[in-house]
Amino acid sequence: MATLGFIGSGNIGTNLARLAVAAGIDVVLSNSRGPESLAETVAELGERARAATPEEAARAGDWIVVSIPLAAYRRLPVAALAGKVVLDTINYYPMRDGHIEALDTGRTTTGELVQEHLAGARLVKAFSSISDFHIPSLARPEGAADRTALPIAGDDPEAKASAADLISRLGFDTVDAGPLADGWRFEPETDPYAVPYSADPDAMRAFWAQLGEALRSGTMPQTPPPADAGVPLPAAQLRTLLADTPRKLTADRALA
Ligand SMILES: NC(=O)c1ccc[n+]([C@@H]2O[C@H](COP(=O)([O-])OP(=O)(O)OC[C@H]3O[C@@H](n4cnc5c(N)ncnc54)[C@H](OP(=O)(O)O)[C@@H]3O)[C@@H](O)[C@H]2O)c1
Repeated sequence: MATLGFIGSGNIGTNLARLAVAAGIDVVLSNSRGPESLAETVAELGERARAATPEEAARAGDWIVVSIPLAAYRRLPVAALAGKVVLDTINYYPMRDGHIEALDTGRTTTGELVQEHLAGARLVKAFSSISDFHIPSLARPEGAADRTALPIAGDDPEAKASAADLISRLGFDTVDAGPLADGWRFEPETDPYAVPYSADPDAMRAFWAQLGEALRSGTMPQTPPPADAGVPLPAAQLRTLLADTPRKLTADRALA
């Protein structure tokens, strides 16, 4: 019996938990407010799901999805995650997380930063470059002709293989983008990030620009994200996007 732990059970966490339960994997959810606050989500997911503290979710999981705002990464439970394969979905949004000079200058990547904190964990950056609403609509069973590929990055080859196996069970192929130092290749607003999975790329880019402007001016965005059903992205196309993308530092981004 396999168990997937979650630290962070928001938009990304709950969508992945639904796929895990559908694939016959038990899930242990956690967040910052405590297990009681997840009762409704656990009830929706059914008997394969329970809620716990982040430490308990980390200890229970054969893999652990860490899906929280970057600002909270120093609160991740280091001892409980040591030795574990950790799937890190975290992205850096300075307007949400505060500025981090080493990321603004490109001296490090978000994956390296989180790995540095989680000494002993085997970090694999994953599910960080697809919009939450495309996770359920683009997941396909193993062997389907129209499977979508997602990039992964990590420094531990065995952990990457284990993460790729889990991701395949959840419904996606993977493309190895290299070590965590190359994780910038699919950070926000790079070529492989979110847009290639969108049925309306122009609407997606326009939404980011508008959201960035709205947040900078302290107003609410006028339009919701273009939550279409998405388009499958084959592995070969993703490989090309990863190889050719320029790096996007904070100063180059519309939404930062
Ligand atoms: N949404 C997307 O489309 C998307 C796509 C790719 C990557 N990402 C990245 O993935 C991460 C999660 O995104 P999201 O949209 O799922 O965020 P979200 O909906 O805001 O959920 C964040 C989750 O993290 C939990 N959390 C916050 N601080 C915590 C802590 N110290 N310990 C344990 N749990 C904590 C929150 O719990 P409480 O509610 O109890 O505070 C919540 O369950 C972010 O870094 C985001 O940038 C998001």
